Amino acid sequence: METATTSAARYSRGAIILHWLIAVLIILNVTAAWVSEDMPKPDRAMIMGNHKAIGITILLLTVLRIVWRVAHRPPAMIETLKAWEAALARVTHVVFYFLMLAIPLSGWAMSSAFGKGKGVSIFGLFTMPALPVAYDKPTAEMFAEMHEVLATLMLVLFALHVAGALKHQFLDRDGSLRRMVPWLP
Ligand code: HEM
Ligand code: HEM
Repeated sequence: METATTSAARYSRGAIILHWLIAVLIILNVTAAWVSEDMPKPDRAMIMGNHKAIGITILLLTVLRIVWRVAHRPPAMIETLKAWEAALARVTHVVFYFLMLAIPLSGWAMSSAFGKGKGVSIFGLFTMPALPVAYDKPTAEMFAEMHEVLATLMLVLFALHVAGALKHQFLDRDGSLRRMVPWLP
C-alpha cells in the first residue's frame, strides 16, 4: 500500500539518493563498456576491471534499495495519471528492479566462468568470490549473451522512462519529476 495521493508527495531522501546514485553508476558502466570496446587490450582490461567493480557495487546498492523501499512506502502515484500510464510506469519500475539485479549477476557469472573461478576485485579493497557456475567457455558465452541482451533491454526501458519523466514534466506539467528531484519547486 502507498501513503499520499498528491504530486506534492516526494520519495524519501534515501530512495532519492539511491535512485540517482544507481542511475549515474549504470550510465557510467554502460559508457565504460562501450568506449573501451576498441581500445588496446591493457586499457580495455583496466576499464573492464572498474566496470566489474562498479557493477557489483550497483548490485549491492540495489539490494539496499529494495530493502529501503520495503521499509519506506513510496508516495502514491499521481491521481491525474491515466490507468495505462500508471500501469506502464509500474511495469517499467518492476522490470528495472529485475534488471538492476539480473545484469550484474549475469556479468558476475560470466566473469566467474571466463576467469575459471577467479573472484572479482572491488577496487583492490576486497574480492567477491566467483559464483558457482560451470567454469567453461560455453557457460561464459551464454552469460555474456544474457548480459548483452538484458543491458539492451535496460536501454530501451531507460529511453521510455526518461521520455515519460520529460512528458510529465513539460507537457502534462503534473509535477511528477519533483517527486524524485528534491530541488525542483
Ligand atoms: C548494472 C551493472 C552493469 C551494466 C549496466 C553492464 C553493462 C554492460 C554492457 C552494456 C556491456 C557491453 C555488452 C556488449 O555490447 O557486448 C557489458 C559488457 C561486459 N560486462 Fe557488464 N554491466 C554491468 C555489470 C557487470 C558486472 C557486475 C560484471 C562482472 C563482474 C560485468 C562484466 C562485463 C564483461 C566481462 C563485459 C564484456 C563482455 C564481452 O566482451 O563479451 N558487468 N556490460
Ligand atoms: C538507468 C537509470 C535509471 C533507472 C534504473 C531508474 C529507475 C527508476 C525506478 C526503479 C523508479 C521507481 C522507484 C520506486 O517506486 O521504487 C524510478 C522512479 C523515477 N525516476 Fe528513474 N531511473 C533512472 C533514471 C532516471 C532519469 C534519468 C530520470 C529523469 C530524467 C528519472 C526520473 C524518475 C522519476 C521522476 C521517478 C518517479 C516516478 C514517480 O512519480 O513515481 N529516472 N526510476
